[in-house]
Amino acid sequence: MPSDRNKTIRVEDLDSENLYKKVISDFSEFTDCINKTIHGDSIELLKKIPSKSLDLIVTDPPYNLTKDYAWTKFKSSTNELYEERLDLWMWELRRIAKDNASIYVCCDWKSSNPVFNIMSKYFKIINRITWEREKGRWASNNRKNCIEDIYFGVVDDNNYTFNLDAVKIKRKVIAPYKNEKWEAKDWSTEIDWNFRLTSPSNIRTDISIPFWSMPENTTHPTQKPEKLIAKIILASSNPWDIILDPFLWSGTTSVVAKKLDRKFIWIEQKWDYCVISSYRLELAEKDVSIQWYENGIFRERNTLQERKKDKSLFN
Ligand SMILES: C[S@@+](CC[C@H](N)C(=O)[O-])C[C@H]1O[C@@H](n2cnc3c(N)ncnc32)[C@H](O)[C@@H]1O
Repeated sequence: MPSDRNKTIRVEDLDSENLYKKVISDFSEFTDCINKTIHGDSIELLKKIPSKSLDLIVTDPPYNLTKDYAWTKFKSSTNELYEERLDLWMWELRRIAKDNASIYVCCDWKSSNPVFNIMSKYFKIINRITWEREKGRWASNNRKNCIEDIYFGVVDDNNYTFNLDAVKIKRKVIAPYKNEKWEAKDWSTEIDWNFRLTSPSNIRTDISIPFWSMPENTTHPTQKPEKLIAKIILASSNPWDIILDPFLWSGTTSVVAKKLDRKFIWIEQKWDYCVISSYRLELAEKDVSIQWYENGIFRERNTLQERKKDKSLFN
């Protein structure tokens, strides 16, 4: 019997008919698709978006894997064929990106080379972020796969948004060094714990995949965590910027964008996922919290005791 604490969102428990009414399947004016989930084929719909209209693109396309997900199947192909498919939509993304836009593309280790090859044809790749996805796929004769790459690219590496202060991490200081005047060296004390605000690196080890007791969890095996996407959106966009995700799945990018006051356009070919994303957007109207992001600061996991002492977080 499922636990009462199981918060997983399942399409079969939702009012699909009403939720689907909020989804559109076509548009004639660009303004009609702002803050909307569009049900359809990205390759076709991207052609209708005017050139230079997006500030940020965040996307998690189907990887080059044969995989049977809840309602859909993906089939792997050769790297050459996979690159041809990537090229179809990457070209369009470059066309619709503004001159100061950024793009993030998620991939696993197998699709990492093809994604790099095609993305670098159209964008300047300026970093590769590696996320340690704790729950790897096990194998008896191999290491389990626990990483995902996220390529960070820009149109112009002299002109792009990067809000460093918005993505600093509040990290517990293990060795609180002091200078010769006996003052704290780059750290502060809050109630009775010591912390330092540090810059994020391109390795993400503090973000778990969503699991059943988290309100953001859906039935998807590859759902991206809100915290991971929040760090991307905060760093690379400003309030009211327009963000696109052409392969939406369970709706994480749209939900986080809404919570962070960005405008959004989302495309997904499966109606079930459109329904889930509509539902999550409804929830985001009432609750804009993002787990581990409090008062403009990202907290590390396993710091609950320290966080409890910080009264400002729980007022
Ligand atoms: C790996 S999933 C994305 C995961 C998502 N970022 C999340 O956090 O849940 C890829 C999604 O792209 C959708 N998709 C694949 N090809 C598409 C196309 N041509 N047009 C629109 N959606 C497509 C699939 O239905 C699937 O939902």
